[in-house]
Order: sequence, then C-alpha cells, then structure tokens
Amino acid sequence: IRVFVPRDTTAAALGADRVAAAIVAEAARSGIPIELVRNGSRGAFWLEPLVEVEDGRGRRLFGPVNVEDVPGLFASGFPFDCDHPLAQGAPDDVEWLATQQRVTFARAGVIDPVSIRDYMAHGGFKGLEAALGMAPQAIVDVIKASGLRGRGGAAFPTGIKWQTVLDTPAAQKYIACNADEGDSGTFADRLLMEADPYQLLEGMAIAGLATGATLGLIYLRSEYPRARDVLEQAIALARAGGYLGDDLLGSGKAFDIELRLGANAYICGEETSMLNSLEGRRGLVRFKPPLPAIKGLFGQPTVINNVLTLAAASTILSDGAGAYAGLGAGDSKGTLTVQLSGNIARGGLVEVPFGTPLSTLLREYGGGTASGRAMRAVMVGGPLGTYLPESLWDTPLDYASFADVGGMLGHGGVVVFDDTVDMARQARFAMAFCALESCGKCTPCRVGSVRGVEVLDKIIGNNDIENNIKVLNDLCDTLVDGSLCAMGGLTPHPVRSALSHFPEDFRDR
Ligand code: NAI
Ligand code: SF4
Repeated sequence: IRVFVPRDTTAAALGADRVAAAIVAEAARSGIPIELVRNGSRGAFWLEPLVEVEDGRGRRLFGPVNVEDVPGLFASGFPFDCDHPLAQGAPDDVEWLATQQRVTFARAGVIDPVSIRDYMAHGGFKGLEAALGMAPQAIVDVIKASGLRGRGGAAFPTGIKWQTVLDTPAAQKYIACNADEGDSGTFADRLLMEADPYQLLEGMAIAGLATGATLGLIYLRSEYPRARDVLEQAIALARAGGYLGDDLLGSGKAFDIELRLGANAYICGEETSMLNSLEGRRGLVRFKPPLPAIKGLFGQPTVINNVLTLAAASTILSDGAGAYAGLGAGDSKGTLTVQLSGNIARGGLVEVPFGTPLSTLLREYGGGTASGRAMRAVMVGGPLGTYLPESLWDTPLDYASFADVGGMLGHGGVVVFDDTVDMARQARFAMAFCALESCGKCTPCRVGSVRGVEVLDKIIGNNDIENNIKVLNDLCDTLVDGSLCAMGGLTPHPVRSALSHFPEDFRDR
C-alpha cells in the first residue's frame, strides 16, 4: 500500500516532513508495511499536509493532517477509516479539485515526481516521442496551431517565438527556461517543478527539436531549494534513461539540460537581465532589439520561455494542437493556472479554462476571505498588476477582457485583501518594490520610484493631498514614458489602479 505525503515547499511549511516521519514511525511500530511516496502537491494548500492512501480501491485523501493526528489515523484501521474526521474521500469527491480543468497540472500530486515509470504511466514522454518523428517546422506549426501564448506574463505567441529561432541560422542555439518566478503571490512554476519535473524537461527537449537548439538551461531562483533537488534528480534520471543527452531515445538527435541558480533579484526574471545573469554578468536589462530569439545567450538565437509555457508544449505535442486550442476563450487558448493567495479561505492553485470569471475563483474556489470579513480589493497579475474593486470581479480571466478593464493577467497571481486594507499603503508597496528591485539602468525607475515612495508617504501622512496626487500622476507618466523595461514601465499600474478604484483611501485620510 502506497502512502503519499507531499515534499512540496508549501506542504513542508505546513508540517508535511514531520507528518511523513510520523507515518513511517507509526507504521513500523504497528508492523504495517507501507511504501511512502513523497509526491508533489495537488495545489489544495488549504488541505495540506494532504495525506493520500492508495490501495486496490484507488486513492483516498486525508487532510489537513498534523503530526498529532497520525496515531489516531492508524488506530482507525489501515488503510485509514473513510469516516475519519479528516477523510476527504477520493480525489473526485473533493469538488475544489474535481471541477478544475487540469491540463498542465493533471499529474501534480498524483505521481511520484522523480519516477519515470510513474510519469510514463500517466502519458509522459508521448510528446517527445511524437516530436522525434517530426521535422522542426512541423513541430513549430503544431505549437502555432495550438494558440499557446507565453505564460510568464507577456503572453507572446510561442509558435512565433520558436519560428524566429528556427529561422535564424547559428552553430549553437539555446532553450532558456525562465524559472525565476519573482511575482509575489505566484507559485505555479515551483509547484510544477516539484510535482511534475519531467513535463518541463520534455517540453524543453521538444523546443530544442523544434528550433535546432541542443542545450537547455533552467534559470531557477535560489529560494526554491526543493525544486532544485527534484530537478537535479530528474535531470540525472532522464539522462540515464536516454530522454536527455546525445542520442534522444536512440534517434541520434541531441538535447541536454543544465540547471543554473539565480540569486534573489526580481529583475533577473526580465529576459535580457536573465541572459546577463546566465552569462555570469550583473543582472542589468539589455536594450531590445536585438531580440533574444535572434541574439540571445552568448549572442546566439535563444528561446526564452516560462516553465508553464514549456510544460504545456509537451501536452500539446502529445494530445494534439486541437485539444489545447479547443479550451479557452477568444485568442486566449488553453488553461490558466490561477494562484490564489492573500486573505483567502481556500488558497492554492486552480487550473481553469481561460474565460472563467474572476468571481468564480474568489467565491467558489477561494470561499471568501480567511478573516471572514468582506473582500475589498483583489490584485491580479503580480506586483506590476492591478488592484480590482468588486465591480470588476465578474471580468472573465482572459487576456482581452483584462486588457479592456486596464488590467493584465501576468503570471496568474491573484492576491485577496479584506476591508481592513489601506490602498494608499498598497500603492506605496508598489513604489517601494520598484525602488528595491530596480536594476538602476534608467533614471525614472531608479530615482522616480524612490520619489514615489516619498510622495505616497506625504499622502498617507495627510500632507497637501491634492497636490501630491498630481505629483504622483506626473511621476507615473514619467515612469511609463521613460522606462526601458516592464519593471519601471508597469509600476504605475498598481499605483494608478489603487488611486482610481479606491480614491477614498487617498483623499479621505
Ligand atoms: P515583451 O512584450 O517585451 O516580450 C514578450 C516576449 O516576446 C519576449 O520574450 C520577447 O523577446 C518576445 N518577442 C517579441 N517579439 C518577438 C518576435 N518578433 N519574435 C520572437 N520573439 C519575440 O515582454 P517582457 O518584457 O519580456 O515581459 C513583460 C511581462 O513579464 C509583464 O507583462 C509581466 O506580466 C511579466 N512578469 C512576470 C514575472 C513572473 O514572475 N513570471 C515577473 C515580472 C514580470
Ligand atoms: Fe532597470 Fe528599471 Fe530601467 Fe527596467 S525600468 S531597465 S529595471 S532601471
């Protein structure tokens, strides 16, 4: 009988490692033979640590399990009593999970992350096998037909990016996976790398076959040590199994992957800054053009994609472009992985087709605030995204609808605030974040963000409010007009959305 306890970072923060140790000890004490599997998380963080037992009848879920619950679970009988107070039933009995449309995260929490056998038993490496039998242009055409757009935040069409790299002749090309996931309130990349790492490796190999790149680099933030452990194991096992290396599955085609660690700078998630960091330089933003797709890592054509974009490529090659393009709304194809956090009762990762209203996520999945107070503001799209008031919560989660209301989906982070939030202070947070994380290359961002904090401090201190709001607006214009990259250019987004949707927090102090 297999017992699953996640090794995922969030589950571990909630005590999963101690629960796993307690289960092993209790099983030994009771003379019950179990196979402990440290799986990834299904993303239902409100149920973590989520313990799962698999016997001939399938999987049954128990959570949230604390160390003190373990003796009682064993005392209820093994494999644990279905009527135990912590019993959640089978995965399909948990509505929060069953109603999602899991595509990229279909295997998350289900498989042993580093078991190739488990991965293949759940459809893994089918995309790579298909790609090995295709010409590069045919692979790019499948990605184009799927409508996949970059999931890091900019939503650029992936097929067009790959086409640019394919069409640019060079002796060496690269696939650079952006796993620097710096947006506050986001964790989808991490969850995928910890729960289903082969999907990312497979997607990178497919990108290599599509564009002629033979080396992939994963730029992983150093704050993700568990993802690092899982990836290191997975890369070594994939290489040993012939899924990476000089001769992919006996095809004579080559693709290998190396892991590189970042050093905790938000700006190194900006693609050109990431390239500098990968080359061993300071993480300064480069001018574009040239595009990285033409002149990227070490001056060579480079595909730079987010973790989720590359992972989706493996599903698209395995299930076909039509299956993916059939999901979603308008030109937002496929699924969106929303990361629900902040003051929310049921936080975690929810994968739904594009076009699902934000309110469905907040109310049906999130279940309202954790504090029980009224929800007041929701930030969508990370620290460069927008704060939305209740009147906009019915907006469908797709790129076009969000652009229409002056917002952006970014990397899918949704952070919830209750009615105790002070939106002027949230605007200050955005400016302070920019001041802290600016690479310093351009003056409006480097100096303007510091001035922005000062102006907001005056507003918060009830000091000449109307004049200071005017100065703040001028400063935002300067940031938009004079910044080289999205860091400075988008910081006015949260500031202005707070100001326009919650003016009373600025004016009535
Ligand atoms: P961008 O719009 O400049 O570029 C999008 C991508 O398309 C880039 O990779 C660019 O090189 C590529 N591209 C553009 N034209 C191309 C062509 N003709 N051929 C091939 N490739 C082409 O956006 P940028 O500055 O890369 O990203 C900004 C976004 O990043 C923001 O919208 C924000 O949501 C997101 N972001 C995400 C974070 C995270 O943690 N995931 C953190 C911070 C920002
Ligand atoms: Fe650097 Fe800010 Fe300029 Fe971006 S906008 S290049 S982060 S100084």
